[in-house]
Order: sequence, then C-alpha cells, then structure tokens
Amino acid sequence: MMKVMAFVGSPRKGGNTSKIVNSICTGLKENGHAVEVYYLSELDNVGCKACDSCQANKVEYCAINDKMTTLLPKIADADCIIVGTPVYMLQLSGITKNFLDRLFTFYRRSNHTARYLPGKKYMTVTCNGAPAEAFGNVTEYLNQLFNGSFKMKNVGNIITGNLTNKDDILKQQGVLEQAEELGRKLS
Ligand SMILES: Cc1cc2nc3c(=O)[nH]c(=O)nc-3n(C[C@H](O)[C@H](O)[C@H](O)COP(=O)(O)O)c2cc1C
Repeated sequence: MMKVMAFVGSPRKGGNTSKIVNSICTGLKENGHAVEVYYLSELDNVGCKACDSCQANKVEYCAINDKMTTLLPKIADADCIIVGTPVYMLQLSGITKNFLDRLFTFYRRSNHTARYLPGKKYMTVTCNGAPAEAFGNVTEYLNQLFNGSFKMKNVGNIITGNLTNKDDILKQQGVLEQAEELGRKLS
C-alpha cells in the first residue's frame, strides 16, 4: 500500500484536469493504495516569500503559517505525488507554480541536493485547449523539476489537448481509461 497525494492545479473543480486526476485515483484505490486529493485553488497559497528560513534551517519546513505548510510533512512522508495542471498562457497554471515554489524547502541550495523527495514516485497530468502535443514543454519542465532536481521516479506523464469546456475530456474516454490504468498498475 502506497500513500499517494494528488494535487489538482486547476481552479475549475470537476474540469478536465480534475477528472483525469480522479481517474488515476480510482485506479490507485482499486489497487489498494491510500489516496488524498487536494485542490490547489483551495489552499490560499500566497507563494514563497523568499524569507530563506527553510534554507537556513530556522524552521522544520516553512515559516509561512498556512495550509500549504501543514501539507509539507505529509509530502515528505508520501510515496507518490501526482500533479495535474491546465496550461495557462503557454505554461503551467499560477496556482500550480505557487505550489511548486513551496517545495523549495525540500531543496538544499547550498549543495544542490533534495531531502525527503529522492526515490519517491511522481505522475504528471497536463490539459490544454490546443492539440496535446503543443505544450510538451510543461511536462518537460515538470520532469526537469521532479526527476532532475528532486531525483524522483517518473511513473507516468499524461499529456492531453483539445480541451476547452469543462467536460470535453469525456469525449476522450481513452485518456480516462489510460489514467485509470496508470493508477491500477502503480507498484
Ligand atoms: C487563463 C487561461 C489561459 C489559457 N491558456 C491556454 C494556452 O495558452 N494554451 C492552450 O492550449 N490552452 C489554454 N487555456 C485552455 C485550458 O488549458 C484548457 O481549457 C484546459 O483544459 C483547462 O483545464 P481544466 O478543465 O482542468 O480547467 C487557457 C485557459 C485559461 C482559463
């Protein structure tokens, strides 16, 4: 049994990103894993303040007193992290970037290493209005961060497109099946 935390980076609850992430979670639960889904728009995360408290080891995780800080020890303890984001203005959404910035506490600028995260698994989901292949750059960036900087293990990248309205992904049942399968086969 793995502990999985899934983060939805679209403020549109029940939208395409949310539906795909929830399909992965359905598969994960069938597989016996424990999953918690977090909607980043509900965290009121104002972003990293660059106070350097984490880098100077003045606090265990983060000096900001908000919900995101309470999630940091849970992230340190999780086995797998899922991050789903819509593409906004050619990039990942702002709330997703604000979330990623708060993971700075896991990075050690002094020697360019990461603590707690190396070896954990991660999956990414991206959704855009343009055809799927148009914004591979967002997935590349996420892989650069999670695999490159944090030394986490990539267990799946779902890249989707042609999604404008909230329910458009329902016309791409194959993607939702692929997402469920990804969850079902995580080991
Ligand atoms: C502010 C904003 C900016 C967007 N920018 C882009 C973009 O640059 N390229 C693109 O292909 N789609 C863009 N879209 C469309 C969304 O990526 C697409 O509808 C996606 O499926 C939304 O995910 P959701 O259903 O989970 O909210 C944008 C949507 C919004 C609201």
